[in-house]
Amino acid sequence: AQNINGKFRDILSFARNLLILLGCRSYDKVTEREDYKKHRNGDSMEKKWWKESVVYQIYPKSFKDSNGDGVGDIRGIIQKLDYLKELGVNVLWISPMLESPQDDNGYDISDYRRIYKEYGNMEDYEELLSEAHKRDIRILMDLVVNHTSDEHNWFVESRKSKDNPYRDYYIWKDPVNGKEPNNWGGAFGGSAWEYDPQTQMYYLHLFSKKQPDLNWENEKVRQEVYDMMTFWCEKGIDGFRMDVISMISKDQTFPDGEMNNSLYGDFGPYCVHGPRVHEFLQEMNREVLSRYDIMTVGETSGVTIEEAQKYAGEAGKELNMVFQFEHVDNGSGDYGKWTTEKYDFKEFKRIMIKWQEELQGKAWNSLFLGNHDQPRSVSRFGNDNPAYRETSAKMLATCLHMMQGTPYVYQGEELGMTNVYFDKLEDYRDIESINFFTELTEAGLMTPEYMMKCLMLRSRDNARTPMQWDDSAQAGFTDGESWIKVNPNYKEINAAQQLEDPNSIFHYYQKLIRLRKEKDIIVYGEFEPIYRDDEQIFAYIRRQKQEKLLTVCNFSDKNAEMEIPEEFKGAECLITNLDRTVFEGRIVLKPYEAFVLYKK
Ligand code: GLC
Ligand code: CA
Repeated sequence: AQNINGKFRDILSFARNLLILLGCRSYDKVTEREDYKKHRNGDSMEKKWWKESVVYQIYPKSFKDSNGDGVGDIRGIIQKLDYLKELGVNVLWISPMLESPQDDNGYDISDYRRIYKEYGNMEDYEELLSEAHKRDIRILMDLVVNHTSDEHNWFVESRKSKDNPYRDYYIWKDPVNGKEPNNWGGAFGGSAWEYDPQTQMYYLHLFSKKQPDLNWENEKVRQEVYDMMTFWCEKGIDGFRMDVISMISKDQTFPDGEMNNSLYGDFGPYCVHGPRVHEFLQEMNREVLSRYDIMTVGETSGVTIEEAQKYAGEAGKELNMVFQFEHVDNGSGDYGKWTTEKYDFKEFKRIMIKWQEELQGKAWNSLFLGNHDQPRSVSRFGNDNPAYRETSAKMLATCLHMMQGTPYVYQGEELGMTNVYFDKLEDYRDIESINFFTELTEAGLMTPEYMMKCLMLRSRDNARTPMQWDDSAQAGFTDGESWIKVNPNYKEINAAQQLEDPNSIFHYYQKLIRLRKEKDIIVYGEFEPIYRDDEQIFAYIRRQKQEKLLTVCNFSDKNAEMEIPEEFKGAECLITNLDRTVFEGRIVLKPYEAFVLYKK
């Protein structure tokens, strides 16, 4: 079957090239768009549509339910495309919508070519693509290929016997002294190995035991993945967000890891940025990515500057950009994210500046403060106290959107949605939160009271409560009963109210996004930090030829003093979150104040 598939693909691509040669079909996805070619002007940063874009992330389960079953769906997303168009974003990254038993809300895929039935069907998906494209909105698919679901047919076959043709699609090891092959712990708690009585061997799962890791050493696996990606590109998607893509290559000696807490060893050094990861991505690029004008972003937790330059270098051999997590991991404790420690502003600023300065001219940054795995950004880095919520949400957005890189807006961030602070375990749905609560409290490493505080600050469910559309029951998310509780503050924080209010956070985001389209310097200008060591202020200049831009943000709940640099005398204010009118000399910033000045 493999060979026939391969042949079929060759014939298809031959036919496609022939059509292009004959001029029968303007294959706009293969060739770079003309307007981008003409932009190439020898600058260190090549102009690309995905650098100029703003991405909006949708978590489909919680975005909009169209049929009252309490679960978001594709038709719900279609209903809200006009809302997204109004916000001004032009790319959507939608978390996985493929067939899945939902052990990890869709990051456990059991069929790569079928839409998860609660979300809709292939016709709905095709309609979503065409409705989005009509509005000049592109769609990125979440590509989850480090692992599949244990209910994927490949795994169902693989576990049947040692000589099953799919056996080597996964990573199987014999027991060592009657126990796990090594001491690795899984990212969701417990061992990373699961014993399978059928063949009396263990399989590797870096995430839940229902997410067995694919064996990328196996060429057939890689070919299956590339075929599947080609299938979606041909359907017309505009790119991929690649789930834990930095973990696909494992050190084949599978050594024990360091005990980073008292329970299990760390798989990190042997699985993250593993020995063949760049080789695999270059192959994927040759086989699929380079054939389409698409955008790619890799989820690469633990990535260093050096690695990022390999993954997302300007030479374009692998991906367009990666997500680094240093700034959101800042403030981790002995048990990783499970701590009540606050983030450290100076450290945060140092990390952000480092990524700006060191990727400049070499690789492209992704800019984000929140996603479906992180607490709400305003609660974590701003201040969700009603007195400061609006101002600090706008300040954070200003700081992020004026940097060099492609900004990502996580659903509800444009409304300043906050953490939900569930205080009962039964309100949580997230496998990571529930597993670690049990593991850490049962091992006596934390009291249930303390762990509950950690969950309230750090659980992924903080970002997964339903999108707050209006002040009707269930925040206008569903007519039924939502799969996870709605944040009770939806009466004060919702889209309907903010669409009415010209000063809302929504309209502030809209303006930031519009400015990016109007001013090239926001996308491509060089980054230069000022006030590096200030304890409250994050300020930086962007420069491009004769133009310059100054961004000033007060990250604290106290006044902060600063001197506006002379060179910005008489500059124009592009945006301010507190209606400031004086921008010269020594000024006093109010708590969470932010503004941007522009001069030519
Ligand atoms: C990524 C996803 C996360 C998921 C994990 C396993 O980190 O963002 O939601 O649980 O991979 O697929
Ligand atoms: Ca539904």
